[in-house]
Amino acid sequence: MDIKIRKAAPLQTKTACLVIGVYEKGLSDPLLKELDQKLGGLLHQSQRNDEFTGKSGEKILFQPAGHLPLERVLLIGLGAKAESSLEKIRQAAGSAMQQVIEKKLEQAAFKLPLDAQDNELTAQIQATAEGILLASYRYDRFLGEKAKKSRKLPKEITLLIDNASEKQACELALATAQKICQAVILARDLVNAPGNIKSPTYLAEQAQVAANESSLKCKILGQKELAKEGLGALLGVAQGSAREPHLIILEHNGGSKDEAPVALVGKGVTFDSGGISLKPGEKMDEMKMDMAGGAAVIGTMLAAALLELPINLIGIVPTVENMPSATAYRPGDILTSLSGQTIEVLNTDAEGRLILADALTYVKRYEPKLVVDLATMTGASIIALGHQATAILGNDQKLVQSLLNAGEESGERLWQLPLWDDYDQQIKSDVADVKNTGGRAAGTITAAAFLKKFAGDFRWAHLDIAGTAWRDQNQPYIPKGGTGVGVRLLVAFLQKLAERSN
Ligand code: BES
Ligand code: MN
Ligand code: ZN
Repeated sequence: MDIKIRKAAPLQTKTACLVIGVYEKGLSDPLLKELDQKLGGLLHQSQRNDEFTGKSGEKILFQPAGHLPLERVLLIGLGAKAESSLEKIRQAAGSAMQQVIEKKLEQAAFKLPLDAQDNELTAQIQATAEGILLASYRYDRFLGEKAKKSRKLPKEITLLIDNASEKQACELALATAQKICQAVILARDLVNAPGNIKSPTYLAEQAQVAANESSLKCKILGQKELAKEGLGALLGVAQGSAREPHLIILEHNGGSKDEAPVALVGKGVTFDSGGISLKPGEKMDEMKMDMAGGAAVIGTMLAAALLELPINLIGIVPTVENMPSATAYRPGDILTSLSGQTIEVLNTDAEGRLILADALTYVKRYEPKLVVDLATMTGASIIALGHQATAILGNDQKLVQSLLNAGEESGERLWQLPLWDDYDQQIKSDVADVKNTGGRAAGTITAAAFLKKFAGDFRWAHLDIAGTAWRDQNQPYIPKGGTGVGVRLLVAFLQKLAERSN
C-alpha cells in the first residue's frame, strides 16, 4: 500500500473514495457547502434527520453518480471542533480505512480535517497516516492463501493538502508515521505470535533481526551467562520450562558519547501458565501476550533507530516461559536476586516482578538517567482501569508527568496510582527480604512497591499494561489481539526528551 501527499481540490479528485472529516455541526465549511450542492442538499438532509451530524464515530457514504469525478464520498465525524484532538483524527482515519478495506476499494483519498492551521497540519497528517496504517494491520501469518486474499488493501492512498508549499513538511510527517507504525506492527506481530512458535529464543532472534535491519546493537545472554551473573530471580521463573531464558539487550546510540542513556525494560514472559500456581483454563490462551512489555521495548528501540532520535537508549528484555513441571519453582521457594535481596515466592504466577527485579538491577551498570519499565503485570490493573488506560507508578513525579503528557499526545493514555511507602508492609516476608505477592488489596500498587526495591535510586516509572496490551474487540485503528501499546507512547516521550536536552 502506497501513501502519497498530493495538493489537489478534493471534489475534483478522481478517486474511488474521497474521505472527508467533518466537525460536529460543521457543514458551513465551503467544501462541504459545495458538496451539499452537488448532492442536491443530501448533506443537510442527513443532518436534519440526525443520520450524520459529525459526531465522533459517525460515518455516512454517498455515491454522487455523475455529479463529480469521484465515485464515492465517505464523511466521517470528528466530534465537536472545540474538543478536537489528534486522537480523534487517528480514530476517524482508522474507521474510514476499515470501510475502504471492507469495500475492497483499490484506492482512496483522505482530507481530514478540512481546516488545518499551518502549525497543526503536519501533526494532523501524521495522525491520519497512523490511523490508516494501524487500521490496515491484521495478523494473518497462519491463515491460508484464500483467507489472506479475501482481505485486500487498497493499492494507493492519497492524503490531500491545500498548498503545494506544505508538501515537503507533510511528506516528512508521513515518513515519520510510517517508521513509527512499522515499529508498532513489529510489536503487534510479536505479541500475536502463538506460544509454540514464540519461545524466549524466538523473541531474542526477532530482536536480533530488528537490529540487523537497523542501526541497533543487540546482545543476547543465555542460561549460562545469566547463571554466572547471578540473575537468580529470573532463573527461578525459567526453571520450569524446557526452553532457555534470555536477557535481550538492545542499544541505540543517537546521542553524544558521554551522555547517560535512557533505559527501557520490558517484561518478556512468552507464555504465562501461572506455573505451579496454575491459572484457570479460561482465557489462558491470551497469556501468550505476557511479553507485550518486551515487544513494546523492542518496537520502541526500532522506532528510535529508524527516526534517528538524538539520544542514547538501552532496551532490556528479560524473557522466560512460566511453566509448571517437575523442575518448576514452587510456592515457598526463596530466590536470591541479582541485587542480593532474597525473595520469598508465595505465588509462582507473580513471575513478572521476579524477572523485572533482576533486569532492573542489571540495567544499573549502564548508569541510566532514567528507567521506564513496561509489563503486563497485574489483573488488578484491569479491574482498576479497564482496557482504556495503562497504570503508571513511579518514584519521580516529573518523569511520571512527562509520561502522562506523552500518553495524552499519543492517545495511549496513562493513569497514575500512588506508590506511598505505606504499601511496603504488604510485601514484608518473615523469612526473606521481600515476598512476591501482597494480597488482594491494591495488587497493581504492591507489584510496583516490589519493583521499587530493585529500582534503587534512579528515576524510575513502571507502566502496567495488562489491560491495554490486548483487546478482544476491534477499535477504530486497533484490531483485536495485540495492540502494540507503548511504542507510540514512548516515541512521543522520547521525542520530547530529545527536544529538551538539545
Ligand atoms: N501476566 C499476569 C497478569 C495479567 C493478567 C496480564 C491478565 C494480562 C491479563 C501476571 O503474571 C499475573 O499472573 N499476575 C497475578 C499476580 C498475583 C498472583 C499476585 C494476577 O494479576 O493475578
Ligand atoms: Mn503470572
Ligand atoms: Zn505474567
